[in-house]
Amino acid sequence: MTHHHDGDPQAHHHDSGLAELLDLDAEALGTYLDDVTAWVARYATDAPRLVVDIGAGTGTGSLALARRFPGADVVAIDAASSMLQRVVASARSRGLDDRVRAVQADLDIRWPDVTGVDIAWASSSVHELADPGRLFRDVFAALTPGGLLAVIEMDAQPSFLGADPASAGLESRLHEAMAQAGWNAHQDWRPLLEAAGFEIKAEHRFTIDVNGAAPATLRYAGSYLRNARSALDQQLSTDDAAALDHLLADGNLEVLLGSSDATTRVVRSAWAARRPA
Ligand SMILES: C[S@@+](CC[C@H](N)C(=O)[O-])C[C@H]1O[C@@H](n2cnc3c(N)ncnc32)[C@H](O)[C@@H]1O
Repeated sequence: MTHHHDGDPQAHHHDSGLAELLDLDAEALGTYLDDVTAWVARYATDAPRLVVDIGAGTGTGSLALARRFPGADVVAIDAASSMLQRVVASARSRGLDDRVRAVQADLDIRWPDVTGVDIAWASSSVHELADPGRLFRDVFAALTPGGLLAVIEMDAQPSFLGADPASAGLESRLHEAMAQAGWNAHQDWRPLLEAAGFEIKAEHRFTIDVNGAAPATLRYAGSYLRNARSALDQQLSTDDAAALDHLLADGNLEVLLGSSDATTRVVRSAWAARRPA
């Protein structure tokens, strides 16, 4: 997924589809975010006061961090103001707006004026930056000695259609087109983190099995496939585009997935990197 500028009307369309997907991702994955923040807490300083969420999107991570660290303020950083408006609105609706604030910054240009950070969190965002090594150096400088950077990336695209032989081929071609477009492509971040001065305290692979027929999964699958349909329009064959349109029309997807007992497996990798004290 690439970053678009705010003035571009297509960016708004893209951002609202992406925003919906990010919220549904957090909802469909159940306790996943709480599990990751618990893992982060093991390597972080005892009573963090300042946490930043790098490339916060709609702020599902920011809110999970605010819940996990009740003594901390959370700064959500993103280049897209449309995303940050959602962060602020959801913080307000959960009564967390006294501790969660938004800072708009394009991290490809510069790190904002945010220092004294105890925990930095970057979920599905580092791979989008032009120069991840520079981001790691900027975060290192913004962290307090002993502060922690947690980087999380998606290892594989979620699979929803595998149980249906007629749709499995379509899904694997979609995944291939996403791979070719570089979606979520990332390397092992360890060497670049170490080059920036970090000590890797832990690496962990989170595997989440989601019930394919649960209502939250059905909404997530629909949003995911609608996003793929519009973002990959040029890459799909006419037949695949038509098959996807059919699947997304008239509740067909819900009928297909709702009747199967398939699970959807989601795999994410995390690195816990500490700035030495
Ligand atoms: C795939 S979303 C992940 C959002 C969120 N961290 C999550 O896990 O749900 C990536 C986010 O990074 C932001 N982003 C991409 N490039 C950026 C940049 N150069 N500076 C700041 N934010 C950026 C995008 O606007 C988007 O909200």
